[in-house]
Amino acid sequence: MADDHLPIVETPKGIPRTRILRWGSEADTDAFARSLAASPALRDAFIALEGDLGAGKTTFVRHLLRALGIQGRIKSPTYAVVEPHEAPDGLAIFHFDFYRFADPREWDDAGFRDIFAGPGLKLAEWPQNAAGRTPPADLAIKIEAMTDDTRSVTLLANTPRGSDLLARIAA
Ligand SMILES: Nc1ncnc2c1ncn2[C@@H]1O[C@H](COP(=O)(O)OP(=O)(O)OP(=O)(O)O)[C@@H](O)[C@H]1O
Ligand SMILES: [Mg+2]
Repeated sequence: MADDHLPIVETPKGIPRTRILRWGSEADTDAFARSLAASPALRDAFIALEGDLGAGKTTFVRHLLRALGIQGRIKSPTYAVVEPHEAPDGLAIFHFDFYRFADPREWDDAGFRDIFAGPGLKLAEWPQNAAGRTPPADLAIKIEAMTDDTRSVTLLANTPRGSDLLARIAA
């Protein structure tokens, strides 16, 4: 998602709007996912996952879903566009991958508008392919591969909920 398409919402003073992290290995990706999963503000949040092919967006989502208690095989939604999940506590989670999303009619026909307007956690890979349709992400997570295992990660909060998430993530 291009930054210039994001409405910048004022966040409370003293709460950072961006953070840069480094994941030294998938264990760090997992630790970050667990820290995010522990935050009550994650419920009903929309998190945009940016980064090139193979950056680690789906891998991060898998760690997050596991941390939220999802068991069994976690399919990547590349062909279905969205994979729904339900956490043991009843939390609805929608994992979108807009990589192949091209047909604007699908937005309404497949019920995506309703999902984004409703409760639950929404996670979206390739959000730029649905720019202008989704609401602004509460938190954008941009993942860049440095080496095979290390990732540079930029977090950007666009809403008070996103700032809350950012503030609670363990350093
Ligand atoms: N620290 C790390 N965090 C996340 N993934 C990592 C890390 N280190 C290595 N990897 C590996 O990088 C690959 C990331 O692939 P993944 O499918 O998650 O990328 P993606 O961003 O979803 O790509 P796509 O745009 O094709 O959907 C996986 O093979 C994963 O094991
Ligand atoms: Mg992916």
